[in-house]
Amino acid sequence: MTTTAYPPKTGFGIFKTAISLGNIGLQFILRKGDIGEVLRHVTHANDGVIWFKPFNIAIIGHPDIRDILLDSRHTKGNVHEAIKSDIGSILVSLNPGHPREEIRSALQRYLDADHINNYAQIIQSITDRKLNAQADGQTLYLRDFCDHLTLEIMYRSLFANFVMDDTEREVFADAISTTVLTSFARAGAGSLAARLVSLLNRSGAKRDALFQRLEDLWGQYSILTHEELEKDAFGQLVLAAKHGKLTDEEARTQAIIIIAAGHETTSSALAWAMYQLAKQPEIQNQVRTEILQHTSPNQLDMSVLRQLPLLNQVIDEVLRLYAPVWIVTRQLGAPVTIDQMTLPKDTNVWMVTTAAHRWAEYFDNPDDFSLNHDKSLYRRYTMPFGAGYGSCVGAPFARTEMQIVIAELLRSYTLEANITENRHLRPIYSTAIRIPKSAIVKLIANV
Ligand code: HEM
Repeated sequence: MTTTAYPPKTGFGIFKTAISLGNIGLQFILRKGDIGEVLRHVTHANDGVIWFKPFNIAIIGHPDIRDILLDSRHTKGNVHEAIKSDIGSILVSLNPGHPREEIRSALQRYLDADHINNYAQIIQSITDRKLNAQADGQTLYLRDFCDHLTLEIMYRSLFANFVMDDTEREVFADAISTTVLTSFARAGAGSLAARLVSLLNRSGAKRDALFQRLEDLWGQYSILTHEELEKDAFGQLVLAAKHGKLTDEEARTQAIIIIAAGHETTSSALAWAMYQLAKQPEIQNQVRTEILQHTSPNQLDMSVLRQLPLLNQVIDEVLRLYAPVWIVTRQLGAPVTIDQMTLPKDTNVWMVTTAAHRWAEYFDNPDDFSLNHDKSLYRRYTMPFGAGYGSCVGAPFARTEMQIVIAELLRSYTLEANITENRHLRPIYSTAIRIPKSAIVKLIANV
């Protein structure tokens, strides 16, 4: 990708915009509202970029989005500004003046290699307990199972001082998800869409309850000792506020972003991994054999798990096909040219990672799950965790979680797909790419 001066070649700008809008609308109706699939289809048909010039927005599904992510001149821009007014200065923003380095380093202190190894034990024990509670031949609702599992893992490892039962955790997570979704609707599609989402989800009441709960928790954390605060991620943020590196509000509201960024994303990726493994019994058997050959049941060795080629390729392939953060936004700080289309400085770009990940030039049969792609392609042409200075701070935690859960699961059970029930299964493009609630697999205990 090259950067050239503005003005770019425009051609029939207004007509192109109208045609693209019409095309998106038509596709949207024809495909019954599968917005992510529609955006993929339409961006691919337009060489990877659709520029809605009058609206100052471009939707990009070209793999060169990696270069935009790597370039620190581009900020979160007006999307962050819109979200900030709803939730507070919570996103680890890339906008000038935001205390992102302080927030990132407070979080990273709690997501470094030492801590990840401690979490591995917690992840394994929660996973084993959940799996032991299943019966041979049982039907598992993937979304429900993965949501409960990842939520418990997240609270027990990253928020160890939080005292919450299962129900309270779910209410908290639901309020966060609704608040973030409403906010994104406002930022992306305007206040009408936000009002609609808000009406459907009662988001106002949930948001108020959420902020009240955060206020209470902040109070509880504020009286903890230094040693106790050192124990978890939220405590680290409280410490950063105590040391004057963040304001109380900045620190408090980070809890929202960690849960919002880390829960549904990991849950979705896991659910799709289980679904694909169930659908591909041969691959499932190969991965199980690899796990059984190289690991022992009672001794979790992360250095081994991280190196298992098949297990990790399954994870990479799932993240390619169903990148949970399927849209990433930036406001361009400099002009950018993608495939001869030059977008000027200040354009709001919406980058559709799932579209970029299915670029046929690099991935044969891009919509199919396959372990035959060259490994180097993932590094260059996929970016499920973003790239560069704004990339996912929780990526090592999410990967560790997926490695352990899949390994423990395949060690104990064989996953069987129910083809009839799953026939019409379509991804749901929400805050993450969600598996439909009806998606199921059958668990057969290994002998
Ligand atoms: C499979 C699971 C996950 C995926 C696919 C994912 C994906 C992403 C992506 C694409 C970004 C970059 C967004 C951008 O550039 O605008 C991001 C940022 C972030 N993620 Fe994740 N994430 C996952 C899990 C997690 C977990 C488990 C945590 C916390 C423990 C987390 C915390 C964050 C935070 C704090 C940021 C903001 C980083 C910054 O702007 O400096 N994520 N994530």
